[in-house]
Amino acid sequence: MSIDAALIIGSGTMGRGIAQVSAAAGLTTYLHDVSAEQVTKALAEIERSLGKLVEKGKLPAEKSQKAKSNLKTVSDLGGVDWPRVGIAIEAIFEDFSAKTALYQDVQPRLNDGAILASNTSSISITKLAAATDRPSKFIGMHFFNPVPLMSLVEVIRGLQTDDQTVEAVAALARQMGKNPLQCNDMPGFVSNRVLMPMINEAVYALMEGVAEAETIDEIMKQGCNFPMGPLTLADFIGVDVCLNIMEVLHRDLGDPKFRPCPLLRKMVDAGRLGRKSGWGFHAY
Ligand code: CAA
Repeated sequence: MSIDAALIIGSGTMGRGIAQVSAAAGLTTYLHDVSAEQVTKALAEIERSLGKLVEKGKLPAEKSQKAKSNLKTVSDLGGVDWPRVGIAIEAIFEDFSAKTALYQDVQPRLNDGAILASNTSSISITKLAAATDRPSKFIGMHFFNPVPLMSLVEVIRGLQTDDQTVEAVAALARQMGKNPLQCNDMPGFVSNRVLMPMINEAVYALMEGVAEAETIDEIMKQGCNFPMGPLTLADFIGVDVCLNIMEVLHRDLGDPKFRPCPLLRKMVDAGRLGRKSGWGFHAY
């Protein structure tokens, strides 16, 4: 099954990154958000990002122009050419009820054969799928930030996802210039099951006075060849997002090794959420 039009729902950092790579891959791409102001802001960000890629020689200018012409922003789902849409990728905030309420709105408009995907980083794909009219065509498509630069898409198969959906989504990810890697639906999938406990452990090291934040980051950068230290990465991801994912791992896997570090919780209580609040483990 080949897909030539995609709907991306949610125009935050992840949604707009996905819309950018989708449009650059030649798909007619609808980017939806409930607020017109938000989609206008997202479009400006995408244009800025495409411009930077052209400047750095990572994207030919004609491809950037083509991407812009493939992209359509909508703040009303009525503005989408539904019969053409082969996949809807949901990238709204991490809230089960909000996501499933959105699916109720979207699925009657979708073609019977269209795929519904979620970019969730922590909510069960199987549980989300069960709340839709198409559990066999529901799948996790987990992109990484910054989407235009990161090569991986983690493809998460729910208990009821069928083979054709997995194959179609893997082919689509490749068309977007990404490398799809498949895993089964378990809390945190692979990426966050491994990454978040490492970040959490770095926060424990900070709390226990093993070293200052800068030193912890430099040790992991220089000693393990990480592009950035775990605390800097937590600031990029959002300290609140890290706490939320640790809570999911702890609750759903039931293993005390996943308990969130008390300092992580304290940071969130204090509003020190990382880059987005101007202050996290480092100041911005
Ligand atoms: N989140 C958001 N933006 C990021 C980022 C991240 N994790 N890492 C880098 N960036 C931004 C930088 O701020 C920079 O932005 P500006 O151009 O606006 O200043 C831009 O990406 C380019 O960064 P670099 O200057 O470092 O450029 P580079 O080409 O040398 O490297 C990179 C780019 C490969 C993305 C490198 O910075 C890197 O490896 N970063 C870490 C990325 C990472 O670990 N992402 C995974 C996060 S986890 C996730 O997304 C999943 C989840 O569920 C939580």
